[in-house]
Amino acid sequence: MNAPLTSRVQRSFSRSFRSYHDSAGQQAQIAERLACDLHKTGAPDHFRSALEFGCGTGHLTQQLCARFAFDALTINDLSPEAGETAVAFGADFLCGDAETVPWPAQPNLIASASMIQWLPDPAAFLRRSAHALAPGGWLAVSGFGPRQYHELVQVGSAAAAPGLCGPDAMAAAVSDVLDVVSVGETEQQMHFPSPRQVLEHLRRTGVNGRAQRTWTKSTLSTFTREYVRQFGSDAGVSLTYHPTWIIARKPG
Ligand SMILES: C[S@@+](CC[C@H](N)C(=O)[O-])C[C@H]1O[C@@H](n2cnc3c(N)ncnc32)[C@H](O)[C@@H]1O
Repeated sequence: MNAPLTSRVQRSFSRSFRSYHDSAGQQAQIAERLACDLHKTGAPDHFRSALEFGCGTGHLTQQLCARFAFDALTINDLSPEAGETAVAFGADFLCGDAETVPWPAQPNLIASASMIQWLPDPAAFLRRSAHALAPGGWLAVSGFGPRQYHELVQVGSAAAAPGLCGPDAMAAAVSDVLDVVSVGETEQQMHFPSPRQVLEHLRRTGVNGRAQRTWTKSTLSTFTREYVRQFGSDAGVSLTYHPTWIIARKPG
């Protein structure tokens, strides 16, 4: 991974670690849907070993632990603060970049929610996960598609993540190794009273690691004017979330 980007992303999520959990309502819903789909599509109730990437404050960890039992659960994150999540769920913590940390051998489940968009090549990460799984193992991963935060892109912000990935690309990345059980996408709009509150929401959820921007009075005023002009309505200004996900299984 691009080292300056990785350290900006890490600093940004570390800074927002205390505000993230309660501000990330969309990510909480995504994690619940992913764990629920994994359960509904026939994954076993018990896994010998599981590996979760980008655990953060544990939205997905919590949903997985509520539905499945694990002999060994390893959770990873770039941010050292996420070690607290491992303690809370009795998991082993693997701190560092998912692309470069050594992965435990042949996990029976690889899971991740709302993390792969921060990787420059999420398809390569999915392919590597597919190969790493034990025979009969399961993959449950969510990311975000190209409509994610499209408002910010249209008003010229650099906050968008580098690895936006639609469900077809996710399926194509693994389909020569895994049986794709389900893929999906949805679009949700949040509304805020003003663009300033959009920026505050991004800050609280750690999503400003790429926005190297230093605001001046003039750039903030242009951003605000354009945002309201293009995306304002009686409900406030919109911010779009475009979650995408895949559940797949390795033949036994
Ligand atoms: C949007 S949060 C999602 C957290 C949690 N999975 C959830 O669903 O709420 C993204 C998390 O991925 C982590 N992250 C970003 N890039 C990463 C990387 N290259 N390796 C490991 N973790 C990463 C961040 O530190 C952050 O905790």
